[in-house]
Amino acid sequence: MTGRFITFEGIDGAGKSTHIEPTATALRTAGRTVVCTREPGGTELAERLRDMVLHAAMDGVSETLLVFAARRDHIGRVISPALARGEIVLCDRFTDATFAYQGYGRGQDLALLGRLEAEVQQGLQPDLTLWFDLDPQVAAERRAQARAADRFEAEDVAFFERVRHGYLARMSGAPERFVRIDASQGRDEVARRVAEALRERLDG
Ligand code: TYD
Repeated sequence: MTGRFITFEGIDGAGKSTHIEPTATALRTAGRTVVCTREPGGTELAERLRDMVLHAAMDGVSETLLVFAARRDHIGRVISPALARGEIVLCDRFTDATFAYQGYGRGQDLALLGRLEAEVQQGLQPDLTLWFDLDPQVAAERRAQARAADRFEAEDVAFFERVRHGYLARMSGAPERFVRIDASQGRDEVARRVAEALRERLDG
């Protein structure tokens, strides 16, 4: 039995993180074994790299290499072993975020990102990606009410317009993998859409 790899994506403030724990609880209630994790992060090394990526000044190439270094460790130690055990892995962000933020947001070479993706993932891709899509202006207003901004959250609306465009481009390249969720709706309606997407994609 092979597991299922499900990723949660969207710009900062879209609300994706709110839906991961309830999703895990629902799947566990249905008898599945679930691992919840995040990127950058999910292992001791990757969490240390996350801290640097979110808070230390660096250029876009270093940022890209660090998120892929974190990803390599995370895949090897956590994601692949869990999938091999037949578990469901719920991951808060994955490589679509690298294309959206480093590629479209920061202007890093998409061909380089593609080469790193192929090298680090060796064919591994999410079975399902839930993209919480929200207007960047609305997301900025939501973020303003939350905690102190990290290096990405401090970016302006134009940056998040580019990031959103990046997610759209990734979805266009792999439409069968993505479900776009309108994150401007209330939390209950978003939760209903998430549950519906999982029912459709996991039972098949
Ligand atoms: P986020 O997932 O929003 O976590 P939190 O809810 O704790 O703020 O923050 C992670 C940040 O890292 C987010 O701003 C996007 C960024 N990021 C990248 O730039 N590239 C990547 O490859 C990943 C996985 C994340």
